[in-house]
Amino acid sequence: MEYSDKVKDHFLHPRNIGKIENADVSATEGSPACGDQVTLYMNVNPDTLVIENIKFQSYGCASNIATGSIITEMAIGKTLKDAFNINWKDAAEALDGLPPQKMHCSVLAVDTLQSAIKKYEIERGLREPDKFTKETIVSELRKVLYPRLGKDIVTLKMVKYVGYEEGTAIIDIDIPEFDSYRDNIRVEIEEHLEKFQEIKKIKITM
Ligand code: FES
Repeated sequence: MEYSDKVKDHFLHPRNIGKIENADVSATEGSPACGDQVTLYMNVNPDTLVIENIKFQSYGCASNIATGSIITEMAIGKTLKDAFNINWKDAAEALDGLPPQKMHCSVLAVDTLQSAIKKYEIERGLREPDKFTKETIVSELRKVLYPRLGKDIVTLKMVKYVGYEEGTAIIDIDIPEFDSYRDNIRVEIEEHLEKFQEIKKIKITM
C-alpha cells in the first residue's frame, strides 16, 4: 500500500495530538469498517463561534492518525459552520490522497469533527437535535465506502432503495453476487445504522 509523503508526515509527526483538559466539547466516534476510534476536543469562542483550539487522540491505523492530524489543522481558526462543511474528500485530498481501502479513515475523522460541532451547538441551543427520517439513513449510507473504488455506495449508485417503516430500515443494494466486498458492505451498513435507537430492524436485500 503506497502512502503519500503528506500521510507519512502527518502519521510520524501528528499535529494537535493529545487531550484538552478544559475542552468546551469532546466527541468520540468509531469506524464500523475497522473498529478504530478517534476522540476530538475543542475550545470554541462563544461570541465568534471560531474553533480556537482543537486536539485529538487516535486509537487506530496510520491513516487514522494522519486524518485526525489534518482535520484538526483544517478546522482550527474556522467558524463551526465552515468547519462542519469540511467533508471526507477534502480531508483525503489535503493528504494528497489515501489508498481506496483507507478512505474510510477520513470518513471517521470528519464524522468525529461533525459530532463535536453538533454536540457543542445542541448543548448551547444553537441547533435542534436531528430528527430521524429516511434522509438520516441515506446520509449514513454516504459514509459506507466501496473499498475497491474508495467511493461511497450512494455516489456509486449502488443504493437502489431506502425505506423506513415502523422501526424497520429497508435497503436494497445493487452489488453482484460474486463481488468479494458484498459481506463487508452489508456489515458496514448494519454497523452504521445500529447506533440509532429509532431503528429496531435492518432489512438489506442485495
Ligand atoms: Fe481503521 Fe484506518 S483502518 S481508521
